[in-house]
Amino acid sequence: MSKKAIGIDIGGTGIKGAVVNLKTGSLIGERVRYETPAGGKPQDIANVVAQLVLELPDAKQDMLVGICFPAITRNGVTMSAANVSKDWIGLDADELFTSSLGRPVHVINDADAAGVAEIKFGAAKDVDGLVIMTTLGTGIGSSLFINGKLVPNAELGHLEIEGVDYESKASFAAKERENLSWQQWAERLQKYYSTLERLFTPDLIIVGGGVSKQHEEFLPLLKLNAPIVPAAKRNNAGILGAAALAKKASK
Ligand code: BGC
Repeated sequence: MSKKAIGIDIGGTGIKGAVVNLKTGSLIGERVRYETPAGGKPQDIANVVAQLVLELPDAKQDMLVGICFPAITRNGVTMSAANVSKDWIGLDADELFTSSLGRPVHVINDADAAGVAEIKFGAAKDVDGLVIMTTLGTGIGSSLFINGKLVPNAELGHLEIEGVDYESKASFAAKERENLSWQQWAERLQKYYSTLERLFTPDLIIVGGGVSKQHEEFLPLLKLNAPIVPAAKRNNAGILGAAALAKKASK
């Protein structure tokens, strides 16, 4: 395995990327960030990603690229689109990015990537049993691991609670949109994580996304049976996991 790869994390709000040291699970050089183009259409996003890769100071043409994306993703094909254009549904994203970047690109779900980073390098390293990673951002991402093995494409951000798709109430974007205090947001998170616990009885819950930097404001307000901890890799987990799973596209 090559020791370096490029990881790109595409979100509903921003697109970030960096060169990753796959041995240590750390970023090499500067992270580059762009706004996600309005509408989140495939070609517009592919153009931004190509520009971003050009600007990565330590990128080399022979590095594999792993991209993580906010959708159910099977064999590099995006199968859903919660906070981006519906044009992604059924699109061969591996092919789109492989042709726009002129090198092999593999695309996976963003929360799966973030979870992989925490399992390999972060808060869930060597943790057995059931680990649930969640990311609180534009939506709520989730990934499930049993004894370190990923069960891909868990979409637990869309759990229906009190008749609504609960990412619309408990994501970080919902906090911002509705101007919720930490306390008010934590009440919604409590409902969300208690439901997760009731359904899955996890051994560990990890909370990622940009807001995990401020975990002291809200994690201590939650009362759960399982330990709930911030992602060790914070908001870089997606980049790291995407790079770790970079490989020649299967088709
Ligand atoms: C999407 C997931 C994604 C999550 C975080 C959800 O709306 O359905 O696929 O992982 O947002 O971006």
